[in-house]
Amino acid sequence: MTLPDGFAALRVKDVVRETDDALSLVLDVPAEHAAAFSYRAGQFLTLRVSVDGQEYRRCYSMSSSPVLQQDLRVTVKRDGRGVVSNWLNDHAAPGDRLEVSPPDGRFVRPETDRELVAFAGGSGITPVFSLIQTALAGPAGRARLLYANRAAGSIIFENALADLAGRHGERFSVTHHLDHDRGVLTAAGITEFLAGVDIAGADFYICGPGPFMDTVEAALRAAGVPADRVHLERFSVAPVPTENTAVTEQVTIELDRQVVTVDYRPGHTLLQTARMAGLKAPSSCETGSCGTCIAQVTEGSARLLNNDVLDEDEIAEGLVVTCQALPTSRTIRCVYE
Ligand SMILES: Cc1cc2nc3c(=O)[nH]c(=O)nc-3n(C[C@H](O)[C@H](O)[C@H](O)COP(=O)(O)OP(=O)(O)OC[C@H]3O[C@@H](n4cnc5c(N)ncnc54)[C@H](O)[C@@H]3O)c2cc1C
Ligand code: FES
Repeated sequence: MTLPDGFAALRVKDVVRETDDALSLVLDVPAEHAAAFSYRAGQFLTLRVSVDGQEYRRCYSMSSSPVLQQDLRVTVKRDGRGVVSNWLNDHAAPGDRLEVSPPDGRFVRPETDRELVAFAGGSGITPVFSLIQTALAGPAGRARLLYANRAAGSIIFENALADLAGRHGERFSVTHHLDHDRGVLTAAGITEFLAGVDIAGADFYICGPGPFMDTVEAALRAAGVPADRVHLERFSVAPVPTENTAVTEQVTIELDRQVVTVDYRPGHTLLQTARMAGLKAPSSCETGSCGTCIAQVTEGSARLLNNDVLDEDEIAEGLVVTCQALPTSRTIRCVYE
């Protein structure tokens, strides 16, 4: 059954406990939704759940591979006192129906012979595991993984990764880093891992906690990896600053042939401003990772708090991820395509 806003009610076929604080939800995609729910390795979907009468939307990356005969699967790790991740870990059961919107995201790979060099921290393994399985499914695919966790008990897919390494011999290797044994991963640890990697012949994918991603990205750049070979997927970003630093007075937004001009509320992103103006502006991850909310600034300017989607040329053309865009000019006009 298709629900309003493009969500579909999918049946939970199975729930697999991966670690004490992470589980996988295996979802049944009926034939009528097969096309909408086809996906590329590295993408995510959005779950809409109701907890204590309140609706929440959260993104979860597929940990399954689209090129293997696998059911669609997402893997959810408890996030501190977070609402949805804990609710799913405590309550999800086979037979449940979950409201799900179709896959999205740009943390994907083109067809390539280059080696996949991946860095995952904690739950960041989910899209990386999908990318690795997919790369190895091809006859010549090669991958290596540095996977950081606090302690041995929190390694998700430990056996599956060991199995892949066993089956694919020289085509895949996994290196585990445990904070409990060696402290948090440092630039020196990353440099050690990179020994033997053909930097010019590899693609680099990073997903994990923010500080982990920053450390890896900086070490890769220091090792001479060009920016366009480094792919990032952020599960969370710093909250939007609320202090009143803006000079902006009015925002004009065009969407679906509607044009609205509203007073700017300091601290609001362009996406929040569009919503406050009553527009149904598109969005998904709200971390600057997926590109769903892209619009063009045709007058005025904005700064991006986080952007893992747009390259320099696109930014120069005025494109912004509205979920992470704070206006910086007195007035601004923003057009959704
Ligand atoms: C593109 C994308 C893909 C993603 N893929 C995955 C995935 O594959 N697997 C996965 O597990 N996650 C994934 N995430 C993260 C996921 O979407 C959620 O953000 C995550 O599960 C946390 O949601 P939550 O409702 O549990 O936490 P929220 O309730 O949103 O809380 C967020 C944080 O605030 C803290 N917090 C909340 N309330 C309090 C309080 N009262 N006191 C102190 N601290 C508090 C929580 O501890 C938590 O750390 C992805 C995110 C994105 C953007
Ligand atoms: S909603 Fe994903 S980049 Fe803005």
